[in-house]
Amino acid sequence: MLGIKYLSREDLDLIFETADHFKEVLSRSIKKVPSLRDITIANIFFENSTRTKLSFELAEKRLSADVINFSAAQSSVRKGETLIDTVNNILSMKVDMVVMRHPNPGAGIFLSRHVNASIINAGDGAHEHPTQALLDSYSIREKLGEVAGKKVVIVGDILHSRVALSNIFALQLQGAEVQVCGPRTLIPKYVESLGVRVEPNLRKALEWCDVANMLRIQNERMDMSYFPSTREYTRQYGIDKKLLDSLGKEIVIMHPGPINRGVEITSDVADSSQSIILNQVENGVAIRMAVIYLLASRIK
Ligand code: CP
Repeated sequence: MLGIKYLSREDLDLIFETADHFKEVLSRSIKKVPSLRDITIANIFFENSTRTKLSFELAEKRLSADVINFSAAQSSVRKGETLIDTVNNILSMKVDMVVMRHPNPGAGIFLSRHVNASIINAGDGAHEHPTQALLDSYSIREKLGEVAGKKVVIVGDILHSRVALSNIFALQLQGAEVQVCGPRTLIPKYVESLGVRVEPNLRKALEWCDVANMLRIQNERMDMSYFPSTREYTRQYGIDKKLLDSLGKEIVIMHPGPINRGVEITSDVADSSQSIILNQVENGVAIRMAVIYLLASRIK
């Protein structure tokens, strides 16, 4: 599972059907199923994470897999050990699957060519975050019935976002229309070649869409010359309740987290009945259970 780019519409449907099953099981307060008792999974994170790391770990434990967690900051990577050596050492302990977050775009693809294990990309730099896009589409499907034909705008720092690219691929695969909205300096050139319209005006984008996926400014990847100022950004691209209420229609508000409250989204929007932000987080567990289960069925 290296990116949405490598998946078909049928793959997405299978993942969603499998997630439906796990979500139904979890809704019956069944916290654990015995599906992966003979599988060991390593979560290796070279970048910080709250939602993705915990959600993968919980999904693995709910499937009864054995789990080991690796944080680069406390590891021998600090002594100069390479990525391939690190992962091959972990695999020699009879690990079957690796979930990896890494700051370098393509790190998962690189690793998959050099080690003998299933790799799940948990975010590779500004490239892809496939399980985030899957849970985002799954949440839209849950809220609006289907993704096909829906109009989705992704707002904010598209240039540094792995969520944006994976969402564009996933939404288009399912027949949604996608726009992006943000400062010109934060819109990568490739988006228009993917058939995505760029709308520089936030009000117009919100008037057009059924769903707005608000992204944070990725300061950790930012050359600040690309960025106006936080106050200027919020004035032009931040969403507040007044703007939301003035649209004259109800749109769905999403955010992959972490939120910078008061910058891209105010608290009264993030916590409103139009927001499905916490549903996205909840659905992340079922989606990751589905992805792990389907990949593990190839190992067994
Ligand atoms: N959405 C997401 O990837 O959040 P984390 O960085 O906390 O994992």
